[in-house]
Amino acid sequence: MHNVRKLTDDLTWIGGSDRKIQRFENVYKLNSGMNYNSYFLDCGATVLIDTVDREVEDVFADNLEYCLKGRKLDYVIVQHMEPDHSATLAGVLDANPDAKIIVNAKTLQFISQFFPGRDYSARAVTVKDGDELELGSHKFKFIFAPMVHWPEVMFSFDETEGTLFSADAFGSYGAINGSVFADGKDFDRELLDEARRYYTNIVGKYGMQTTMALNKVSAYDIKMICPLHSYVWRKDIDRIINCYKTWGSYTPEVKGVFILQGSIYGHTANAAEVLMTELDRRGIESVILDASVTDISDIIAMAFKYSNIVIATATYNNGIYSPVEHALTEIAAHGICGRSFSVIENGTWAPSAGKAVLASVEGLKNCKVCGQTVTIKSAGNGDTRLSIASLADAIKEDME
Ligand code: FEO
Repeated sequence: MHNVRKLTDDLTWIGGSDRKIQRFENVYKLNSGMNYNSYFLDCGATVLIDTVDREVEDVFADNLEYCLKGRKLDYVIVQHMEPDHSATLAGVLDANPDAKIIVNAKTLQFISQFFPGRDYSARAVTVKDGDELELGSHKFKFIFAPMVHWPEVMFSFDETEGTLFSADAFGSYGAINGSVFADGKDFDRELLDEARRYYTNIVGKYGMQTTMALNKVSAYDIKMICPLHSYVWRKDIDRIINCYKTWGSYTPEVKGVFILQGSIYGHTANAAEVLMTELDRRGIESVILDASVTDISDIIAMAFKYSNIVIATATYNNGIYSPVEHALTEIAAHGICGRSFSVIENGTWAPSAGKAVLASVEGLKNCKVCGQTVTIKSAGNGDTRLSIASLADAIKEDME
């Protein structure tokens, strides 16, 4: 049964939500499923902008059939070849043999890789960065956005209506609830955290490329943003664009402290809590996440959000406690830079985790060490309390 939503007189949302999926890319936890957007433009020509994930294939097929109303499909714009958008592409192309495919050269290569044995090259209209095309009564400009989030990604700007089709950019995790428009939601309470968690984990490594893409579209008069995931932006568009400027430049949103702790018997966790209290006494916001029980996507998001990161870790196998070590690897892999790191280590006979943490921080761009490493031997004592207070002082000074 079809389920579509009208966005403008000419444009219709024809995507779908998967409320069963637990992990995006089979890695990052999902709290409320995932949605996949596809758009149908009816403007003298029939234009499909991207397809959807296999899980919502049935409703998508019904939606497309409903919108076509027995007509032929004229064009399919393919902005991104990751299978959460393109798994159903070959089926659409095979069912609509007269449809032209608007792609770039890299996209065409990826189509042949994902659908071996099929050759759609004769139907391809291959565009270059900045090319314009008239599709029916609408004029499109194609803006390459490589690595936001794959190399073939391109945005499509409908100059006629001021709609930016932004591929993965400006998306979020979660199925759609209620309106398809973001303006029905409270930005800070309902949208920001998941948009941050989505961006930082999916595209976070490619901040420079994100910034380049933002610069390219900054000159356009954007009235609506249609991403491939989550809600459509048509009001206060600057709010989400400004978030992307912050995240893309690795600028901390908050002068505050993200304490990542890994504790085996609770003594390191106790030290992390004491630090939080000392920071609060100095008027500094902080948050603690336990590396052993927290999804890596939350850890990455907090590393992007805060200016200072404290690693509080037990020693394990003469190095960093393994859940913390994994988190540090992921933080580095996602390109975190420009942060101040502090360390609390614990070890009963040979505390050595701190040295290993500092070695990994050395490899992070524009990151520095703040304060002296706090060393605990088994359990915190009076000296530990003084060391933690000194660390809180150093963090406060670092923020000034
Ligand atoms: Fe939503 Fe990069 O795919």
